[in-house]
Amino acid sequence: MSPLLWWRDAVIYQVYPRSFADADGDGMGDLRGITSRLDHLVELGVDALWMSPFYPSPQHDAGYDVADYRDVDPRFGTLADFDALVTAAKERGLRVIVDLVPNHTSSDHAWFQEALAAGPGSAARDRYHFRKGLGVDGELPPNGWQSVFGGPAWTRVADGEWYLHLFDTSQPDLNWDLPEVRAMFEDVLRFWLDRGVDGFRVDVAHGLIKESGLPEWTAAQVPITSPGAEHRTPPMWDQDGVHEVYRSWRRILDGYPGDRMMVGEAWVAPAERLARYVRQDEMNQAFNFNYLMAPWTAADQREAIESSLAGVEPVGASCTWVLSNHDVVRHASRLGFAPGYSTQGGIGDDDPQPDEALGLRRARAATMLMLSLPGSAYLYQGEELGLPEHTTLPDDVRQDPTWFRSEHEVRGRDGCRVPIPWEADAPAYGFGPSGKTWLPQPSDWARFAADREREVPGSTLSMYTEALRLRRKHGLGQGTVEWHEAADAIDFRNGPVRVITNFGKVPAPLPPGEVLLASGDLAADGTLPPDTTAWLRA
Ligand code: GLC
Repeated sequence: MSPLLWWRDAVIYQVYPRSFADADGDGMGDLRGITSRLDHLVELGVDALWMSPFYPSPQHDAGYDVADYRDVDPRFGTLADFDALVTAAKERGLRVIVDLVPNHTSSDHAWFQEALAAGPGSAARDRYHFRKGLGVDGELPPNGWQSVFGGPAWTRVADGEWYLHLFDTSQPDLNWDLPEVRAMFEDVLRFWLDRGVDGFRVDVAHGLIKESGLPEWTAAQVPITSPGAEHRTPPMWDQDGVHEVYRSWRRILDGYPGDRMMVGEAWVAPAERLARYVRQDEMNQAFNFNYLMAPWTAADQREAIESSLAGVEPVGASCTWVLSNHDVVRHASRLGFAPGYSTQGGIGDDDPQPDEALGLRRARAATMLMLSLPGSAYLYQGEELGLPEHTTLPDDVRQDPTWFRSEHEVRGRDGCRVPIPWEADAPAYGFGPSGKTWLPQPSDWARFAADREREVPGSTLSMYTEALRLRRKHGLGQGTVEWHEAADAIDFRNGPVRVITNFGKVPAPLPPGEVLLASGDLAADGTLPPDTTAWLRA
């Protein structure tokens, strides 16, 4: 294992361009806005930023519907702005990762427009999954596959054929059996590598290849293939053929100097299945969603950590850890419910509301636990401020396609995508000069503003900054976990640091040793309160 590969223990900060910083004042963030706030990332102490899509897109899925893979949407700026961002990041020692969306294009993409115009049987249609329908006149979809966002995964076009979209109707799935599709994406990789990016976050990495013949599937479309599961792998997820694609990409990345990397968004379980994506000649990393989803109990957290570490061990990859991103309820709110309560469909004003103080307390404890683990960690913009989910967004401002495709059953992901607060006393909390924001911010977010937290010892921002400094100083990202047995607690040693998280209802005694940092105040008698993590000198 080479310690020289930067990504193996990196802390990578996810920027959601729509909501990070707005330089031009249109209410939506942009690349110049990101550049103007890079010093925040430097002060925080992260190694890299990953940006969600900023490519030309009709924005039906917030940019995960790409109409042109080699340009910047005018809403976000220009290619020159992108180059300036990369230069500014490099000057500050930050690496840059961009998002790649290969499972589907936007329906505005030239290929899909060509496919519509060219008609049934054409080569242009073969780049996607067009099929005749069932029923007397083909009026029924070719099979019963469902869209992840709700409703059927098929939409009929004017000439009667249907096309497959595992997500929104505006996101037709590409046919990855076609060499032309593969060649196109290899060019896209080179396009951004040539512009100096350090890597890619690969969207829906488990979805590119479909089982041939698109066989019927009526069971849950959950890509779980644990031994003993009563069904085989669903035909739309985690097919063996995806790995060949990543091998070819790895060869391209390895042909460039400077340790370029890929991290896959693959919602697969168990950990051994995920490990297949990070074999030596495939992706460098994969997001660890099994960790993200683990309930807040000592047993569940320990199990998630142990199985994650054990899962990547045989393939020699480094583990990753993540608690929040643009698709899930922010962990400061998610953890404000009883363990096991599902927030998967988002939160609306008529849903049970999280206990905010409890959520933040646990979120801080969870973050310090995560940052003490060996491997690399992914942070989502705003979590360093302890930002909660916006749980009372008015339904009429929602934009997530999930909300529409589920016919207003599922609230969706807008609550974690609200523009973040920078300055307590500025319009839109300093998000942009006009005070406009594409989603409304809660009226009480001044208390989370970065400028206010920066001045307060013990603020969430101070805790993140100090935890990242100590993590680096003590090499925690490159360490190993040695467990101590504990009831209702996580207790392990990673090199020079002992890490203890109290999941119990009563304060727990701490072993002797200097407390380097704690996620909350210790009790007057020096014990560790519930839902608190401490790092001690071992
Ligand atoms: C990924 C993205 C999500 C998007 C979906 C379809 O899961 O993270 O935001 O909606 O892919 O591209």
